[in-house]
Amino acid sequence: MIRTGIYGATGYTGFELIHILRRHPEVSVVFATSKSYAGARLSHVFPVPWDLPLVAEADADPGAVEAVFCCLPHGAAMQTVVTARQTGAKVVDLSADFRLRDATVYQQWYGLEHAAPGLLPGAVYGLPEVHRREIEQADLVANPGCYPTSILLALYPLLRAGLVADGPIIADSKSGVSGAGRKPSLKTHFVEANENFSPYNIGRAHRHLPEMAQEITRLGGRGEALIFSPHLTPVDRGILSTIYVPVSPAETLHTLHNIFNETYADEPFIWLLPEGQLATMAHAVRTNLCALSLTLVEPGQLIVCSAIDNLVKGAAGQAVQNFNLMFGLEETLGLADL
Ligand SMILES: NC(=O)c1ccc[n+]([C@@H]2O[C@H](COP(=O)([O-])OP(=O)(O)OC[C@H]3O[C@@H](n4cnc5c(N)ncnc54)[C@H](OP(=O)(O)O)[C@@H]3O)[C@@H](O)[C@H]2O)c1
Repeated sequence: MIRTGIYGATGYTGFELIHILRRHPEVSVVFATSKSYAGARLSHVFPVPWDLPLVAEADADPGAVEAVFCCLPHGAAMQTVVTARQTGAKVVDLSADFRLRDATVYQQWYGLEHAAPGLLPGAVYGLPEVHRREIEQADLVANPGCYPTSILLALYPLLRAGLVADGPIIADSKSGVSGAGRKPSLKTHFVEANENFSPYNIGRAHRHLPEMAQEITRLGGRGEALIFSPHLTPVDRGILSTIYVPVSPAETLHTLHNIFNETYADEPFIWLLPEGQLATMAHAVRTNLCALSLTLVEPGQLIVCSAIDNLVKGAAGQAVQNFNLMFGLEETLGLADL
């Protein structure tokens, strides 16, 4: 059994992680931290009968575990990750703190000076379908953002084949309310969110933009071509991204579909829908799947629909997928039968 610790176990991603790890045959959870509920048990915070004790971060010993999952807000995660790495524990960080390779870009978007820029070059962006070999060797994995997971998996086959043409790539994304975390806010207040559908930080204003631009550029595309418009939709969980991509006009729907098929042929968590079907949130919610569908509007104009569960493939599920790779385990352990 691999001994693990969870920082931020009382958040939505931390709680989802506990759900998954309880079914994982190779993991024992040694500690689970909480800021507000230290001293209580998980069953006091969520309606579950699990008596997992919650401890303050100061009382959690990363030296006693081989791996930690860090489910803290950005900014708070940085120092925790540094401490865990100093003890030798491998880290999967679910926050944004280690996703951007350039500490200056991090400061521009997150308004914080990076506390550990020395760790950034060794942090691997944890999108297994793209960076599997690097993740297998990594001690620190930066788990991708939820929106970026849905959008980058939709673009990767096209970028890899060099088929993205000039012009804007427009990602129109809709997320369930759990994407904003458990801490209440006016935006996620029931009366504001229910029966409503709201754009926010549209265009090039959302913090996930630089992370996606960075990865698109690394894959040979033009990161600056991305326009990203997120929306809040009144469901608990799920992301649906509808992505308008200019492609080479020589490609037919059939050839594009074949390219996606070839790229993802052996991927356990990519569900490419047959031609003519459209991906919906329901294809992916409560699973670690990314469901993809392709629609060719006219020669040169493709629409990819990409659906994930923000808390699973967009957070805790992908974190376990990364953990499995880092420890040389079967990649689907704990995830296949969600
Ligand atoms: N929600 C998503 O869909 C999603 C998807 C991908 C990535 N993420 C990222 O994953 C991380 C966790 O997100 P979440 O949605 O689980 O957040 P959340 O529901 O707000 O939970 C945050 C957790 O961190 C703890 N915490 C809050 N402030 C802290 C501080 N200053 N120091 C130490 N602990 C603190 C909370 O403890 P208490 O409950 O005890 O206060 C809670 O356990 C964030 O970085 C987020 O951006 C979230």
